[in-house]
Amino acid sequence: MTAKRALTALLVALVFLTIAMLAACHPEPRKTDAELGLTPQQAQGRRVYDARCAECHYAYSTHDLRGPSLNGLFKRPFMKNGIPANDERVTDIILMGRAKMPAFRQKLTQQQLDDLMAYLHTL
Ligand code: HEC
Repeated sequence: MTAKRALTALLVALVFLTIAMLAACHPEPRKTDAELGLTPQQAQGRRVYDARCAECHYAYSTHDLRGPSLNGLFKRPFMKNGIPANDERVTDIILMGRAKMPAFRQKLTQQQLDDLMAYLHTL
C-alpha cells in the first residue's frame, strides 16, 4: 500500500468514527408505552410517529435531529418557528409540510392523524 492510499484509508476511518460518535451523542432512551402511561389511542399515535416522524424529530430528547425536537410541543404557546402551538396549526404543518419537511396529506388516514395528534399532546 502506498503512503497516499494508507492516508486515504485513515481519513475514511476517521470520518466513520466521527459519524458514529456524533450518532452516539444523542441517544433517545426508549421507554415502553406503559412506562409512558399512554392510552391505546396515544400508543397507536406513537406507532405512526415512529414510522413517519422519528427519522427527523426527537420526541423526548430536546436535541434537534433533521428537524426541531417535538418535546413539549404543546406545552409552550409557540412552536420554534413562531407559529402558535395549537391543534390547527400543527395539523397544517403535518398535512402540508414545511420547506424541508414532506407533506403527509396523502400518507396518513384521518384515524392515523387523530392518533398522532393524541400522542403529540403527551410530549
Ligand atoms: C424528512 C424530515 C422530516 C420528517 C419525516 C418530518 N419532519 Fe417535521 N420538520 C422537519 C423540518 C426540517 C422542520 C423545520 C424546518 C422547516 O420549517 O422546514 C420540521 C418542522 C416540524 C414542526 C414545527 C416544529 C417547530 O417547533 O417549529 C412540526 C410540529 C413537525 N415538523 C411535525 C412533524 C410530524 C408530526 C411529523 C410526522 C408526521 C414530521 N414532522 C415529519 C423535517 C421533517
